[in-house]
Amino acid sequence: MTTSDTLPDRLRKLKLWMQGRWKGISREARRLDETAVQTAYARWAPYYDMVFRAPLYWGRHAAVKRINALEGHVLEAGIGTGMSLPHYGKHLTVTGIDLSEAMLERARIRSAEMINIAGLICMDASDLSFPDNHFDVTVAMYVMPVVPDPAKVLSELERVTRPGGTVLLVNHFSTDHGPRAVVERWLKRYADRLGWNPEFPKSRVLRHTSMVLEDEETLAPFGLFTLMSFRKAEDPQA
Ligand SMILES: C[S@@+](CC[C@H](N)C(=O)[O-])C[C@H]1O[C@@H](n2cnc3c(N)ncnc32)[C@H](O)[C@@H]1O
Repeated sequence: MTTSDTLPDRLRKLKLWMQGRWKGISREARRLDETAVQTAYARWAPYYDMVFRAPLYWGRHAAVKRINALEGHVLEAGIGTGMSLPHYGKHLTVTGIDLSEAMLERARIRSAEMINIAGLICMDASDLSFPDNHFDVTVAMYVMPVVPDPAKVLSELERVTRPGGTVLLVNHFSTDHGPRAVVERWLKRYADRLGWNPEFPKSRVLRHTSMVLEDEETLAPFGLFTLMSFRKAEDPQA
């Protein structure tokens, strides 16, 4: 990526990154790809809330409502500008991480007066620096289709969640048949402009986890998004 790249160039490179082309390449090259995400979201940050507040509202609302019925310490991975933060119950402690400092900076401004935020930290969701079993609840909203290795992110969320704890994902998942599949295949060619991959089947996360999928909720708008609730197995030694 060069400084003369236009936004479409950068999004095209982000799409290549999203398609997992970084697999098998060096740590140095991977760091460069992380830089591509940071660059893309640094550009998005000033407009992100204006563009994505409404279309992604229902997923955030549904996930936070479920989390508010639980107790303890919550990790939100890929927290972005922190649009969910004002909606978490005050009985919860919330830690947020994101790869983009520009997005986090907005989350920090938003949460300046909030006393239940333990930290907003720049960190890769596929390589979390928290110890095992650290959180009661972990959640990633609209993050899986923009990371190169969604299975690794889910396994990291599972690792840092305590036994018996909850892992929530909110995502667009594509279908194999019916009119929606046709639309998703058609939309795929516009992935650059959309900023996410409309063809993202559930199998990309489900086949890599042994956690129990306890519940699935189809969400507005138009049933485009799904909330998945996983339970991490209890520790048999406990
Ligand atoms: C579509 S936005 C969703 C933001 C937020 N969850 C929301 O509901 O508005 C995706 C976010 O994931 C972050 N992200 C992308 N790759 C990441 C990674 N590997 N680790 C942590 N965050 C990542 C981006 O910086 C961006 O803030």
